[in-house]
Amino acid sequence: MAKKNLKDLNVKGKTVLVRVDFNVPMKDGEITDDNRIRQALPTLKYLIEQDAKIVCFSHLGRVKKAEDKKGKSLKPVSEKLAEYLEKPVTFIPETRGKKLESAIAALKPKEVLMFENTRFEDIDGSKESKNDDDLGAYWASLGDIFVNDAFGTAHRAHASNVGIASHSEESAAGFLLEKEIAFIGDAVNNPQRPFIAILGGVKVSDKIGVIKNLLEKADMILIGGGMSYTFLKTQGIEVGTSVVEADKLELAEDLLKNAYGKIVLPLDFKVTKEFSNEEAVRVVDVNDFKEDEMGLDIGPKTMEKYQKLLKNARTVVWNGPVGVFEFSNFSQGTIGICQTLANLEDATTIIGGGDSAAAAIKFGFEDAFSHISTGGGASLEYLEGKELPGVTCLDDRT
Ligand code: 3PG
Repeated sequence: MAKKNLKDLNVKGKTVLVRVDFNVPMKDGEITDDNRIRQALPTLKYLIEQDAKIVCFSHLGRVKKAEDKKGKSLKPVSEKLAEYLEKPVTFIPETRGKKLESAIAALKPKEVLMFENTRFEDIDGSKESKNDDDLGAYWASLGDIFVNDAFGTAHRAHASNVGIASHSEESAAGFLLEKEIAFIGDAVNNPQRPFIAILGGVKVSDKIGVIKNLLEKADMILIGGGMSYTFLKTQGIEVGTSVVEADKLELAEDLLKNAYGKIVLPLDFKVTKEFSNEEAVRVVDVNDFKEDEMGLDIGPKTMEKYQKLLKNARTVVWNGPVGVFEFSNFSQGTIGICQTLANLEDATTIIGGGDSAAAAIKFGFEDAFSHISTGGGASLEYLEGKELPGVTCLDDRT
């Protein structure tokens, strides 16, 4: 059933608790990719326009003991958010207590407050991650309405999403959460055909659920990245020192057997002798690996074949880079897939989060797709056909 959304709410003068996923990559205190912050702006701006008092919160990284707190404060994130909103964001470096409660009580309509990393509550008994009921009830008590816009965390049942929702009188999906569910849900369950999936990434084991689900829904699955070698190995092909999951060979063979030809494997690769950008590079056909060579990208014949197959696609879902795109010598495959999808005229193109989303943004294709998911694990689980607790917990639309 459809979930309540922002437009169903009357937020004027109300304190709205907004769970965002600002779990952004940071280096030396600097945010290195602020896409998740930018993607949450429509919800926050709408709430500001509607005269709500806004309390937003997120997790950042994983925090199990006091030492893990270092570098995981949301303060720099709140500063970046203030820049994008072009207004002050009051940052409260607490996850509970008088200081936080008084700051929230003092909020005026259109004002925004952010509190500290919800996972700081994991230090003493994993209260956030184990969805401690008292913590969910406490956070819910800080506001009138709960809005979940944290798609990236929707596969978790934590106190800051499921816990709050179960103690809030009213809850709804934010614009980002709604958009993610609509794009990925429609692509998988109601696709325009041909529907082609491109799956990359290092391990078959990470993608088993997705492959199984997409074998039922998609017309074709194009494989790239490290998992290609495990599949090829099951065909008796020698792949040198390329990464192979020895304990997943049987499973990969079964997947191929049950795919009825829907799984397409690469024809050639770019190979080298070390996992490095410095060594000499060769292009080899699948059968021509030398013993000491590893594949780190798909080759030109594969690209040509995949381009032909993708030409008439009406729906494309892509999850996982097809090569080690961080190395310039092995980024052409991933860039080529970005270009191919960007040039499809009549197709819905979706990047299912994680590394492929980071690659598309890095190579300048941010606006070239119908949708780039902000979820890594969440979009994978959604592509697997699993229910997401962070969505299920929200009020149904009546
Ligand atoms: C993510 O980056 O995938 C989400 O923010 C969830 O983070 P987690 O895997 O630490 O729960």
